[in-house]
Amino acid sequence: MFKLAPSLLAADNWNLEKCVTEVVEAGASVLHIDVMDGHFVPNLTMGPGMVKTLKGKTSAILDVHLMVSDPDFFVEPFAKAGADWISFHIEATVHAHRVSQKIRALGCKAGIVLNPGTPVAALEAMIPHVDFVLLMSVNPGFGGQAFIPATFDRLKQLRELISSLGSEAFIQIDGGVGPGNVADLHRDGVQVAVAGSSVFGKANPGQAARELISLAEAVHEN
Ligand code: DX5
Ligand code: ZN
Repeated sequence: MFKLAPSLLAADNWNLEKCVTEVVEAGASVLHIDVMDGHFVPNLTMGPGMVKTLKGKTSAILDVHLMVSDPDFFVEPFAKAGADWISFHIEATVHAHRVSQKIRALGCKAGIVLNPGTPVAALEAMIPHVDFVLLMSVNPGFGGQAFIPATFDRLKQLRELISSLGSEAFIQIDGGVGPGNVADLHRDGVQVAVAGSSVFGKANPGQAARELISLAEAVHEN
């Protein structure tokens, strides 16, 4: 089934409570929390305190996307703060298996993230050890970038890899998602779509979220 994950990176921090309430009431069941360390990516964002603030205040799944050079170090503070899902980049660590085990041992769902320049095949050994794969459709670090069209080919490769391994891992997509591509992405196997500027960049984020969800869900009507 389809889940929309609005990215708080694009939310108005001054009105965070309103932003979260609006999109969750509109049907978004996941909140995407972009963690950037100023090293793995050239931007600095939120820490475990943000997760702690949200925990218990919303019914949405708290989805932490770690864009950090040392995911092993950051897993525990985010899990303890109340993260439900934690994803980390395969490019960031030579110990991906250890990191995913740690995430699961702390009671969270583990996701592995792939940058646009990393071959899909690099995930083969890790797919049996994760609950989901986050396929980047922009280079990580900033919101509001254009969707990279080659993502559709990579999505197909990823779907084939996951099914050839008999895995039940779900696919999440992140970057440049909006009304023009959300239905095609869902049709091609994306179960969770992150959307920052196409939700919180709009005058009415609740309505924008509702539209994205109904565009994706309409795929099942045809
Ligand atoms: C990019 C982040 C994304 C970002 C998406 O590095 O991982 O989650 O918030 O923003 P949009 O939807 O505006 O591309
Ligand atoms: Zn993200």
